[in-house]
Amino acid sequence: MQKINKKEFGQIADGSRIHLYILTNQNGVEAGISNYGATLVSLHVPDRNGRFADVVLGYDCLHGYVDDKAYFGATIGRYANRIAGGRFSLDGMTYTVAQNNGKNHLHGGVHGFNKVVWNTEHVSNHKTSALRLNYLSKDGEEGYPGNLAVQVIYTLTGHDELRIDYTATTDQETVINLTNHAYFNLAGQGAGDILGHELILHADRFTPVDATLIPTGELRGVQGTPFDFRQATAIGARIHETHGETDRQLLFGKGYDHNWVFNHGGKSNISLAAEVYEPESGRVLEVLTTEPGIQFYSGNFLDGTARGKAGHTYNRRDGFCLETQHFPDSPNHPEFPSAVLRPGERYSSTTIYKFSVR
Ligand code: GLA
Repeated sequence: MQKINKKEFGQIADGSRIHLYILTNQNGVEAGISNYGATLVSLHVPDRNGRFADVVLGYDCLHGYVDDKAYFGATIGRYANRIAGGRFSLDGMTYTVAQNNGKNHLHGGVHGFNKVVWNTEHVSNHKTSALRLNYLSKDGEEGYPGNLAVQVIYTLTGHDELRIDYTATTDQETVINLTNHAYFNLAGQGAGDILGHELILHADRFTPVDATLIPTGELRGVQGTPFDFRQATAIGARIHETHGETDRQLLFGKGYDHNWVFNHGGKSNISLAAEVYEPESGRVLEVLTTEPGIQFYSGNFLDGTARGKAGHTYNRRDGFCLETQHFPDSPNHPEFPSAVLRPGERYSSTTIYKFSVR
């Protein structure tokens, strides 16, 4: 039996009441989602002995999310990741968006989709529990053109999958790149660093960046570099390597903060992109997506200042993100898969986070 429970989560400055929706499946897996930022607040999954833990970083209270600068669990838009110099052109017009990351634009700007209130609807049936969140991003919001109607559906399946379906339509040509910014720790949030987690990325190439994390345009082979995760490798195994040419990339990112190019990505079929295994708990996370890329971010900017759940503070590399996406700065890279959405078209993107044990 699956269900959704709705709870009060607090009120924000403009008076909007915020809720927390708890989706539960028949195995006891539980996902908490808030209409503030369409945020994944909690995700309780069992270890190999059946013990449950919350495997995503975050806060106990709403005000944590209001003040948050790390994007814990949030839906990111209108354009996830960076846009160089906060500028792009569409159809001969140049648009400027906030330079909120040095001189670049990051994660939709100052008041991105992670900081807005979404409308919610339950869409459950006897098999699955789902929560639909809607948001209308007005023409000119954060500098982006076009009224964009966005829908995010979180579904918790009986197979311990959290599925996220994103769709959007626009009335003017615009750019779009939606993702979820959950930070995972499969040993449980607050359990320390994630360097022992073993990662597989089904990607032969990644997009190297400049010192401000903007892709150079090259798709570089991962072979023989610390970016090769085609075989299961501990996240921490090569994170400090500095001897090779590609290793400089780890200095730019202060660790991993790069976009990998999936071998089977960007087709409308969903395919397996990443797998993570945490040896102590036995928890396994598989990431399936329709997107062409993924930002693997090793939590390099976490600095212990955020007061997280149950009194935990999160230090550097206490969580990792696998942000399924179009490549960073695609609006300025015509050679990358296009992130342009036109009137009459429908943006659609699906990502599944599937949990199991080994
Ligand atoms: C993304 C970016 C990182 C950082 C985090 C949030 O993963 O690529 O550089 O901004 O979001 O701290």
